[in-house]
Amino acid sequence: MRKPIIAGNWKMNNTAEEGVALVKALKPLVEDAKCEVVVCVPAIDIPAVKKAIHGSKIKLGAQNVHFAEKGAYTGEISAKMLLEYGVKYVIIGHSERRQYFGETDETVNKRTLAALNAGLTPIVCIGESLEERENGLTEKVLDRQLREGFQGVGDFSKLVIAYEPIWAIGTGRTATAQQANDAIAYIRKRVKRLYAHSNAGRMRIQYGGSMNAKNAKELMAQPEIDGGLIGGASLKAEDFATIVHFDK
Ligand code: 13P
Repeated sequence: MRKPIIAGNWKMNNTAEEGVALVKALKPLVEDAKCEVVVCVPAIDIPAVKKAIHGSKIKLGAQNVHFAEKGAYTGEISAKMLLEYGVKYVIIGHSERRQYFGETDETVNKRTLAALNAGLTPIVCIGESLEERENGLTEKVLDRQLREGFQGVGDFSKLVIAYEPIWAIGTGRTATAQQANDAIAYIRKRVKRLYAHSNAGRMRIQYGGSMNAKNAKELMAQPEIDGGLIGGASLKAEDFATIVHFDK
């Protein structure tokens, strides 16, 4: 069975002080969670949040990682640096990084392999734009992202894919449960086909895009959806905790 995973992506929100206050409020609310609970925080918040979540259910994630072990890459952070602070998860290839920071399927692939080699669990984001969906290109785009972004991955049980349709991110326009389930079923089928013998059946796939305290239950009830990657609603402890308790 695939253990559900609910992860917050704080994006560029919360100073270390604000982040500590948020996880302190969150801790007691998620202590009895049955799913995995992760917060992916700004890099500079990591040391303070690590301390604040000590002894709790909450696991720590980052929002990016560089593919080189070290070297002349100004502004970047290596897997080793993240591991030193107890980071377990790292978001890779978020559509905001693809859109604003030149991330490509190729760099997503390099970052994913580096994270896996270092022992981090990548949460790799894929998903189509509104224009692509309206032109019937959703499956074609997902197929390309899967073929190019995941080359060389040997064991898909060691990573998480987040299906995030770009048109649903931060817009309040959630994919319907059916749309999300269909796209995720397609992703699983394609991974099984493209990467035979790679444990694709055990890979977890999240949905992300305006998931919130109101719609999480219905989305999580879909058989293909193994979790959520939550932006805006992860910034409020009560809302995030409600999502974590989707099974109640
Ligand atoms: P929202 O939940 O704010 O739409 O953001 C989703 C997202 O991008 C998570 O990575």
